[in-house]
Amino acid sequence: MISTRILAIETSCDETAAAVVENGRTILSNIIASQTDLHAQFGGIFPEAASRQHIESIYPVVSAALSKAHMGIDDMDCIAVTYGPGLVGSLLTGVNMAKGLAFGKDKPFLGINHIEGHIYSLWLESGEQGRGEADEIEFPILTLVVSGGHTELYLMVDHGQYQHLGGTLDDAAGEAFDKVGRLLGLPYPGGPHIDEAAKMGNPTAFKFPRAVMRDGFNFSFSGVKTAVMRQTKKYHSKETMPVNDLAASFQAAVVDALVTKTARAAEAYGVTAVHIAGGVSANSALRREMSEKLNIPVRYPPLALCTDNAAMIGAAAHRHFINGRRDNFDLDVIPSLQLNTKNNG
Ligand code: KG4
Ligand code: ZN
Repeated sequence: MISTRILAIETSCDETAAAVVENGRTILSNIIASQTDLHAQFGGIFPEAASRQHIESIYPVVSAALSKAHMGIDDMDCIAVTYGPGLVGSLLTGVNMAKGLAFGKDKPFLGINHIEGHIYSLWLESGEQGRGEADEIEFPILTLVVSGGHTELYLMVDHGQYQHLGGTLDDAAGEAFDKVGRLLGLPYPGGPHIDEAAKMGNPTAFKFPRAVMRDGFNFSFSGVKTAVMRQTKKYHSKETMPVNDLAASFQAAVVDALVTKTARAAEAYGVTAVHIAGGVSANSALRREMSEKLNIPVRYPPLALCTDNAAMIGAAAHRHFINGRRDNFDLDVIPSLQLNTKNNG
C-alpha cells in the first residue's frame, strides 16, 4: 500500500476542523473548533455567523493540527478539503485555505464529498476494541448515513462505489431531533439532549407515527415531528410537559423507522455488514436496536468521530489519492453535491 500523510480540512457546517491522517487510518491529530455555543443562541445554525467564525478559526485550527502531529506542510503528501455538500460560505473558507496551502507549497489538492467522509470514518483506527478492522471486511456493505443534513442508505459495492438505495423525502433524522429538541425546550443541538432525556422516559408513553412505507427504502420524518408538535401544544408550559416521555417516544419512532428500513435493505441485498455513520449514529438507542435486530455485524465510528470532523475527510481522501486522483485549483464548492456525481472520482 502507498503510504500517505494527508492534511484534511472540514468546514461544511458549524465545525472548523483540521486533521493529519496517515494511510487513511491512523489519526495523528484531529482538531475541532465547534461553533455550537455561537449558534445555540439562535436555536439553529445562522449561516452568516458560521462563515465569519470559520474565517477566524481556520488558521489556528490548521496550525494546531500540524503542530499536534509534530509536522509541517512540507511533510504532507496532499491537502484535502470538503467541497460539498454544505453551506456555501462555510465550504468556501475551507476550500480557499486548502487551495492556498496546496498552491503555495506545490502539493497535490483533493476535494472530498462530506458524505463520503462520514462513510470513511468507519475505516479510521480509534483504539477501541474491534475497530480498525474495516479494511479486511468484504463488500457489499450497507451504509446508513444519518446526520443533521442527511438520512441516506447506500449499497457500497467496493471502495468508492456506491448505489443509492433510498433517503429521506423530507427532514433528515438529525434535523427532526433538533426541531423536536426545540419543541421540548432542550438546548441546541437537540439530538444528544433527547438521547439523554429518553433514558429517563417511557418510549411507549406516546404512539407517534413510524412512516415505514411498504415499498422502497425511503424515509420520512416530518410526520413524527408534527405529531410531537401537536402533543406539546396540549400543555400550558414547557414546565408541565412530560419531556422525558416525549423524548423517549419520539426517539423510539425515529429509531424504529431507521432500523426497519436498514434491516429490509440488508436482507434484500445480502450484505456482509451494516455501517452507520453521521451525527445520529451516536444515538444510544439506535446503536442498541440496530445491533439487536440485525444478525450480521453492525459497525459504528467511535463517538468522537460520528459528528463532523476532518479525520474522516483524510480517510476518504486517502482512497482517492492512492487511486491517482488529483484535482485542479478550479474545483469550486458544490453546496448540494451528491455522492455519485462524476467528481467523486
Ligand atoms: O454529522 P453531523 O455532525 O453534521 C451533519 O453533517 O449534519 O450531525 C449533526 C447531527 C445533529 O442533528 C445532532 O442533533 C445529531 O447529529 N446528533 C444526535 C446525537 N448526537 C448528535 N442525534 C441523536 N442522538 C445523539 N446522541
Ligand atoms: Zn456531517
